[in-house]
Amino acid sequence: MDHEGALTPRQEDIERILLSKADIASIVCRMGEELTKDYRDSNPLFIAILRGAVVFFADIIRAVQCPLQIDFMAVSSYGSAAKSSGVVRILKDLNTPIEGRDIVIVEDILDTGITLNYLIKNLESRGPRSIEIAAFLVKDVPGQRSAVLPRYVGAHVPDAFVVGYGLDYDERYRNLPYLGVLKPEVYS
Ligand code: IMP
Repeated sequence: MDHEGALTPRQEDIERILLSKADIASIVCRMGEELTKDYRDSNPLFIAILRGAVVFFADIIRAVQCPLQIDFMAVSSYGSAAKSSGVVRILKDLNTPIEGRDIVIVEDILDTGITLNYLIKNLESRGPRSIEIAAFLVKDVPGQRSAVLPRYVGAHVPDAFVVGYGLDYDERYRNLPYLGVLKPEVYS
């Protein structure tokens, strides 16, 4: 199989690389240390928000050096449009009861925060002991204040559409090992 040929068209859609594999590895390592320090004795439940967070999730849980459990939720988000719709629906719920538990929501990118704000309200009604957010990325949009504040942040990115390391545009680019800015002509 011609791997070069299979990769080239996708890479041509990338305007520039924001975070290399090495950048990502050091971010994950630093966040893992912070989380280990804060959750050493509490057996937290780490919740991955499908699907974008799975790549980061797989890395971050292995960077945390204390006992933890995992579960998954899926909520509706962008679909194929590169803009936040504000419409949030739970597509897949947790299998684990969270009453009295320390929860860490693992998210790929926070933009408006609408998705997580909804999710946190929903989870709070189930009586957890605490809920914190670990966001790999926070998008800095001039004049926009996110509806939620993540305690753990990997990196801030500019107001552009980014893909790779789990993040998609129209279900593509999730498997790029780096984070890049998508060329606007791809989605306009
Ligand atoms: P929010 O509700 O506006 O914070 O949107 C959060 C969700 O939108 C993320 O979990 C992603 O699924 C998606 N999203 C936001 N910005 C981007 C981006 O630049 N690239 C890919 N997905 C994005």
